[in-house]
Amino acid sequence: SLPVENVQALASTYNGSHENKNIPERYIRPEIEHEAVDCVNGVDLPVIDLARLNDPQFYKEESAKLRVACEEWGFFQLVNHGVPDEVIDKMRADIIEFFKQPLEQKKAYSQLPNGLEGYGQAFVTSEDQKLDWGDMFFLIVRPVASRDMRFWPNNPPTFRDSLEKFSLEMKDIAGRLLELIAKDLGVAAEVLLNLFDDLPQSLRMNYYPPCPQADQVLGLSPHSDGSGLTLLLQVNDVHGLEIKKGGKWVAVQALPCALIVNIGDILEVLSNGRYKSIEHRAMINTKRERISAAVFHSTHENSIVGPLPELVKDGEMLYKTVGFLDFAKSFLAAKLDGKSHLECMKI
Ligand code: SIN
Ligand code: FE2
Repeated sequence: SLPVENVQALASTYNGSHENKNIPERYIRPEIEHEAVDCVNGVDLPVIDLARLNDPQFYKEESAKLRVACEEWGFFQLVNHGVPDEVIDKMRADIIEFFKQPLEQKKAYSQLPNGLEGYGQAFVTSEDQKLDWGDMFFLIVRPVASRDMRFWPNNPPTFRDSLEKFSLEMKDIAGRLLELIAKDLGVAAEVLLNLFDDLPQSLRMNYYPPCPQADQVLGLSPHSDGSGLTLLLQVNDVHGLEIKKGGKWVAVQALPCALIVNIGDILEVLSNGRYKSIEHRAMINTKRERISAAVFHSTHENSIVGPLPELVKDGEMLYKTVGFLDFAKSFLAAKLDGKSHLECMKI
């Protein structure tokens, strides 16, 4: 991607009273529908309780909710997930600390030319493209052998350790959810667990600075995730995630104790469209920074991405079947443009 100005540094020039100072045109998105609702027809984003899913007494009731969440929302909040508070708190604190460092220090982890991993921006491919109001720090975390330790911060000093612990917890939850999802889809757990062998994982930490023209910018353009399953951690207490539901943008009020889970494009394809990978975006606040961290889990790099035969009823295959690496390549090429990549996968 092209080198783009650091947004955190840019935003800091608007601190204080600069009434007449406008932000650069490249960030202004005149077309954004700004109105968002808190729920649709009185229904909120589903809250799924993992402890109840793990309890035979409550499994049936809770798995019915999980099904609705995956089929109709593509998003849910996961509570009672069992991740120790200290693991989440430490990860949050270290991500906040990382972004707080002076730009020069963060630049030690800058993306390399044409690389995605590291500190910088994603999906910037042309000079005239509109830009998102945010910086990201992206790491490939699993398989362990695929880590590039040059990008792993030594500062804050506990960052690596926090990430190791957090990553393992997220891996376990993703694995457990895949078992539950397999059961709901009516396929053997091994089918999904083999495809997602060892839970390939990457982490996108997002820093969205405040913006004096917050209602005219986007922190992250509308997109669906190219992953299989994403776990999103709200890092500080500023909300901003919105998801598209029934043609409306719905603002997600993340519960402090919850992980937000969403179905990615790979699971929509594997499930032959039964589960939905939903468009979402990040909004900006005028006064406060927002920080989030998305943990993506994908199928392994030698996997084939296509509808599972068990889910192709009457031969009706709704998506193409492609190798994972081609799938990933075309996702990146489509940039973050709504559901355009999924559309390409449709037959
Ligand atoms: C994402 O879609 O990766 C992040 C959304 C958010 O910041 O809430
Ligand atoms: Fe996303």
